[in-house]
Amino acid sequence: LASTEVDISKIAPGQAIKTSWRKQPVFVRNLTPQEVQQANAVPLSELRDPQTLAERTKPGKENWLITLGVCTHLGCVPLGVGEGENRGDYGGYFCPCHGSHYDTAARIRKGPAPLNLMVPEYAFSSDTVVSIG
Ligand code: FES
Repeated sequence: LASTEVDISKIAPGQAIKTSWRKQPVFVRNLTPQEVQQANAVPLSELRDPQTLAERTKPGKENWLITLGVCTHLGCVPLGVGEGENRGDYGGYFCPCHGSHYDTAARIRKGPAPLNLMVPEYAFSSDTVVSIG
């Protein structure tokens, strides 16, 4: 299946966009240095689905967090993309359906979802273009 090319040049630190791949929402987020730090400061023992930010991003591009926008509980689209949207108690994403909170690495921290938001296959075609899928 075809991959989706996403222009990331206009996504400022702290911002995220919603795109889609195989009809599923995908979040592309440019983490601020503080959000990266926040993610790296969490001990893995505190995580329900233990993964480091480095495992969920590409080397040297730790600030680019690319995940499916599909809650791992029952598949709602979490909030957290766009100005003023609810990012939940851990600064990442919040699923309003049953109250799942994801952190700045999109890892599940609170609520019924069992797993982190899924990271799809992707690659940087250049510094400003990501190819998803
Ligand atoms: Fe997200 Fe239930 S679908 S918390």
